[in-house]
Amino acid sequence: MDTHDLPRKGTKYLTFEGREDIGSNPSENPTMGDVITARVGRRDLMRGMLTGAAVGALIGPAALLSSSGEAEAAATGAARPAKASFSFQEVAHGVDANHHVAAGYDADILIRWGDPVVPGAPAFDPMNQSAEAQAKQFGYNNDFVGYAPLPLGSTSPDRALLCVNHEYTDEEVMFPGVGVEQQKDKFARMTRTLVDIEMAAHGGTVIEIRKVKGKWVTDPNSKYNRRITGETVCAITGPAAGHALMKTGGDPTGTKVRGMLNNCSGGMTPWGTWLSAEENFNGYFWGKVEDTNPNAKSLKRYGFPGEWYNWGVYHDRFDIAKEPNEANRFGWVVEIDPYDPTSTPKKRTALGRFKHEACQIAVGKDGTVVAYTGDDERFDYVYKFVAAKKFDPKNRAANMDILETGTLYVAKFKADASVEWLPLVHGQGPLTAEKGFPDQATVLINARLAADALGATKMDRPEDIEVNAVTGKVYVVLTNNSRRKPEQVDATNPRAENNWGHIVEILPEGGNHASTKGEWTILVRGGNPADEKVGAQFHADTTANGWFSCPDNAAVDHRGRLWITTDQGENWKKASGTADGVWAVETEGNLRGLSRMFYRVPVGAEMCGPCFSTDDRTLFVAVQHPATDGVDQWEGFKGKLSSFEDPATRWPDFKPNMPPRPSVVAITKKDGGVIGL
Ligand code: FEO
Ligand code: CA
Ligand code: CA
Repeated sequence: MDTHDLPRKGTKYLTFEGREDIGSNPSENPTMGDVITARVGRRDLMRGMLTGAAVGALIGPAALLSSSGEAEAAATGAARPAKASFSFQEVAHGVDANHHVAAGYDADILIRWGDPVVPGAPAFDPMNQSAEAQAKQFGYNNDFVGYAPLPLGSTSPDRALLCVNHEYTDEEVMFPGVGVEQQKDKFARMTRTLVDIEMAAHGGTVIEIRKVKGKWVTDPNSKYNRRITGETVCAITGPAAGHALMKTGGDPTGTKVRGMLNNCSGGMTPWGTWLSAEENFNGYFWGKVEDTNPNAKSLKRYGFPGEWYNWGVYHDRFDIAKEPNEANRFGWVVEIDPYDPTSTPKKRTALGRFKHEACQIAVGKDGTVVAYTGDDERFDYVYKFVAAKKFDPKNRAANMDILETGTLYVAKFKADASVEWLPLVHGQGPLTAEKGFPDQATVLINARLAADALGATKMDRPEDIEVNAVTGKVYVVLTNNSRRKPEQVDATNPRAENNWGHIVEILPEGGNHASTKGEWTILVRGGNPADEKVGAQFHADTTANGWFSCPDNAAVDHRGRLWITTDQGENWKKASGTADGVWAVETEGNLRGLSRMFYRVPVGAEMCGPCFSTDDRTLFVAVQHPATDGVDQWEGFKGKLSSFEDPATRWPDFKPNMPPRPSVVAITKKDGGVIGL
């Protein structure tokens, strides 16, 4: 997410994700600013106010018309049709300690941090935590939510395996007496016992869920249930497996690593596996990077050492000075078979190493598999992987290693509304031994450096990328970039000091996701449309509650309708003044860009994991880190953070069913109908 400062700069209320967006891309890659400057003049760019009209002029009317009737309607003055695809009464912008859903809907907590997952899990007792208990209970900070129907191969709308990522931990909320300014004293109160609980609270959960009389329940006794933690052995697969850069003292083979870390969002594959994306992995590492370190250039580009945790004090593998290559073994997309609780999670190195936000699959008519994935840091890139092997809907076993071989590409967006995908292939272009890329494994391990060399477009923090299976379009969700300077704006990232984010839409050439070409346009630009200085862009009929800032995750329902969740972080007051939530966004026709608010989280939380059941009658969402981000800016809080003693009662104003525990919430319509109709 968001716009916080570095912990070492003394921010008072730190949260993990606020540390992810430092921006560590020093490459000289041109933004498109120069190209555009020549065409629209530097003054417009300096104002950071490249208007929709200016962008339209730049990218040509054909591109706008190809993806929307809006430009045409604007030009002809055609009347807007009255009917929207979404039908619900909007939730109001606002901030308080509870959650809110549109009238006529229920939002029920399905599972929370500490709830039992694995058979034999003890009851949640926040005052008597242990790593052993946590490894059997639901982990912390749920982000991605995936729905794997049961039985395997069915489209069951009322029985499934819920696949949930546990991205990171907030020690100040989890552990009594630890406090909020951990960096200042080098985490002096974080004992080995607490660190090991944190490691057990990371990773993921698979748990069986069922709909009983219209309400979802977990089955803590299901044979499918499992926890993956920061200690679970994962296989390293693909071109980088066994490479010298992947070998450590603990694993001289370079083929297995303990744990998956900072798994943010992800995706589900058509062959029934769960893709879990390792994001801010640099934060777990400790120790000094000497200039003589052979990995120094790479470590710097990836932001090592983050020192956002003190795990390296108790576990040598997280101390870069002691184990320089362990850092190379995180930052991958992990593929997990949720239907086999004994299966080994596989880190798919063919998809490159960077701060993966998510991984979304598109399958072409001929079975070609494409995986879209963004690198969530300021000024980093959008990627896609085109698999060599095709999807076979009749042979699951044959699909299980599709993500092993193929070509990784990075996006170069151009001012003429085209996008070109540049291959990260050893020996091609600048990716040679002379330039520091002796083999394909090195290209993938140092994918950021390879993409720098190729001249990829620096984006405003690529979060989720969602494929619309109905229209073939791809939504690239860019959350914000407050550090883009006026001279750095370009056509796809058109605002300086972008505190509000935007969504870029890509139309692959010929509808073929594997194509190296496509067209792009901007669907919406976040922020308050009533404030001219913001330069927001929503449909004119969007209400005062309908606009949003800092889009993060996205879901497309089975009717091809787009749902966006937000993560404003500490910046919520400046970005919008409302807590985060879920918004429904029209993408087609004359109402394109019309947005409306559907659900709102408690202050301090971010909204993650939008996921529909197979019948669209349930929307699962993940309420992540309530009671943390920017709570000091809410007057209802009144300084209670500093008097915190008991995590379960840290914030007494919370309703009994919504204490500050990360939770997955199931949203259903009271009449049992389809969400949003
Ligand atoms: Fe974990 Fe980029 O959000
Ligand atoms: Ca986020
Ligand atoms: Ca995110």
